[in-house]
Amino acid sequence: MTAQIDVDILTADQAAIELARLAGILAGANHDYHSADDPRLDDATYDALKQRNAAIEARFPELKRADSPSEQVGAAPAEGFSKVTHAVAMLSLSNAFDAEDVTEFDARIRKFLGLGPDAPLAFTAEPKIDGLSLSLRYENGALVQAATRGDGAVGENVTANARTIADIPEKITDAPAVLEVRGEVYMSHTDFEALNSRQLDAGAKAFANPRNAAAGSLRQLDSRITQARPLKFFAYAWGAVSAPLADTQKNAIDRLQAFGFATNPLTALCNGPAELLTHYEKIETQRATLGYDIDGVVYKVNDLALQERLGFRSTTPRWAIAHKFAAELAWTWLTGIDIQVGRTGALSPVARLQPVTVGGVVVSNATLHNEDYIKGLDSKGGEIRGGKDIRIGDWVQVYRAGDVIPKIADVDLSRRPENAKAFVFPDTCPECGSEALREPGDAVRRCTGGLICPAQAVEKLKHFVSRAAFDIEGLGARQVEQFYTDGWIAEPADIFTLKERYSQGLQQLKNREGWGEKSATNLFHSIDEKRRIPLDRLIFALGIRHMGEAASSLVAMHYGDWSTFETAMKKAAPLEGAAWEDLIDIDGVGSVMAGSLVSAFAQERERASIDRLIAQLEVQPVTRPDTSGSPVAGKVVVFTGTLEQMSRAEAKARAERLGAKVSGSVSAKTDILVAGPGAGSKAKKAADLGVETLSEGEWLKLIGAS
Ligand code: IVH
Repeated sequence: MTAQIDVDILTADQAAIELARLAGILAGANHDYHSADDPRLDDATYDALKQRNAAIEARFPELKRADSPSEQVGAAPAEGFSKVTHAVAMLSLSNAFDAEDVTEFDARIRKFLGLGPDAPLAFTAEPKIDGLSLSLRYENGALVQAATRGDGAVGENVTANARTIADIPEKITDAPAVLEVRGEVYMSHTDFEALNSRQLDAGAKAFANPRNAAAGSLRQLDSRITQARPLKFFAYAWGAVSAPLADTQKNAIDRLQAFGFATNPLTALCNGPAELLTHYEKIETQRATLGYDIDGVVYKVNDLALQERLGFRSTTPRWAIAHKFAAELAWTWLTGIDIQVGRTGALSPVARLQPVTVGGVVVSNATLHNEDYIKGLDSKGGEIRGGKDIRIGDWVQVYRAGDVIPKIADVDLSRRPENAKAFVFPDTCPECGSEALREPGDAVRRCTGGLICPAQAVEKLKHFVSRAAFDIEGLGARQVEQFYTDGWIAEPADIFTLKERYSQGLQQLKNREGWGEKSATNLFHSIDEKRRIPLDRLIFALGIRHMGEAASSLVAMHYGDWSTFETAMKKAAPLEGAAWEDLIDIDGVGSVMAGSLVSAFAQERERASIDRLIAQLEVQPVTRPDTSGSPVAGKVVVFTGTLEQMSRAEAKARAERLGAKVSGSVSAKTDILVAGPGAGSKAKKAADLGVETLSEGEWLKLIGAS
């Protein structure tokens, strides 16, 4: 039996089989332990198997599997933790990259709040810690739950692990009865280096950077491992609270500190963009000697009443921004250019690089965007990189900013090989041979093969199962590719008929490399779990061009349920008429996006594929915020003329919070027109249609705001 063979004398074939076997056993063991609460392997055997897996991977790094159990030290399988629905969503931040972005941030807020340029407006500025965020729930002063961010709405319950972190108090005094403290778990540079050397001594993998090490350590299935890892925590925000913490951001942070949390000593109060930029520079100068990774400075409006008024866009607050540090740079050889075909048929050139470390991460690929970019031209035909093109064999400068995919910043022509030729971009799809066309005004060349193109089909499937879409446990990009290649699935609907079409599916699946009886059963179970899917996720999962997460959720919010949405898409097919107007009227949905959405439903093949999928699903309607008692819930409201008490944007955000639909134009569907001074044609049209018209004051009275 291979299991008995000493790792040192395993052949590569034996090693591959053994790694597959270990992946199966360890995944099964994780499931038994955490989901089934029924551990079958004792700790020592589990550890020994894990060690053996790591030792084989160290000898044969090229055989390491995508579902490697040692990776799961870094990212434990989600099934290992129970899920926590955040009482208040954990959002991300929008970014600023230069001084101009910061000035615009200040200007945008003033405009929204209707503040003049000289009105005082203070911000806090503090380092953006490069770790992972954690939400700690205290009830009556006792820590009751700790959850990771997850997808922002639902995270993982890591309470046992959080309790092992010294910076996180078990009990706090004089706090509100319910208080969710939010902040960042991170690892210091010294602790990171020591941990990595221990990992290597133990034959385990070293972590790429402190952030991965922190994430891997917090998401351990065995909290004893977390306990042995030196994690730290900075508090910088809060979620649900039963009573306000303070009146300003700064005072709230001071209160968190008084409760016993570590807060960042470089937090400052700044009056306007100039002071923010000065503090940014101060933090940047200290960056190298702080002893932990930061990747920018976060600015937040100090006055919490203003934060409340500013509110949120779909995934980010209006009152905060992350000012990122400039990207890190490195030089390396460009060894090749490959063309990848994406789910919308886009031919994307990718640079293959001689691996180089950029900002602590080994980079071996960089995006080249499109053919103009390779030629040294931007989308308007202007020069980039001083007009220098990119050729195979070039010595190139690579950069990455945060999580962004690496890019090529520059080419050193003095080191260009003499025989290097200009790159010729293909005009046929490298995957299916169909013609690849570039439409006027589109920077991208696209394969015209549609669903017959295997690359498009497989990318669509990968997108479909991705985290923000169906997020099916046990069915990641690698498995989808395998099933596609084997002819098991060709389109999303096939995922849901997999079990039924292979009535012995389990039998077959469990005999495949990498699958055991447990993982196969689990897969069918997690597929079934996702038959119930929220409308916004479904729309996003369809992978329609231009329909990102935010757009999908706007559209879902507007139509509410699948059948209303679908009927509207069919009715909008002529790209004109009421249904079309209604679609492009959704704030944030432009005509390009709308056109793409409607045409997906109008194409027979795509349409049929969507129908087959829907037949397998139970689509959940959108749950709207509780607006019962709101006098304007469900009403269509139009604002026109000059508003005097608040900006148009704020008026709109408020109305939407109360469940109203805000539209840009007056039609027979309009319920209320709010007309300020200077209202023109809209007021007239409303009068003609007999639409109720209110002054700003009357409107505020109606919504109980005055
Ligand atoms: S405030 C509503 N402050 O950055 C927004 N976030 O890119 C609350 N982060 O998910 C976040 N340091 O994990 C805030 N001082 C800081 C931060 C910080 C790091 C992380 C956090 C967040 C991400 C957004």
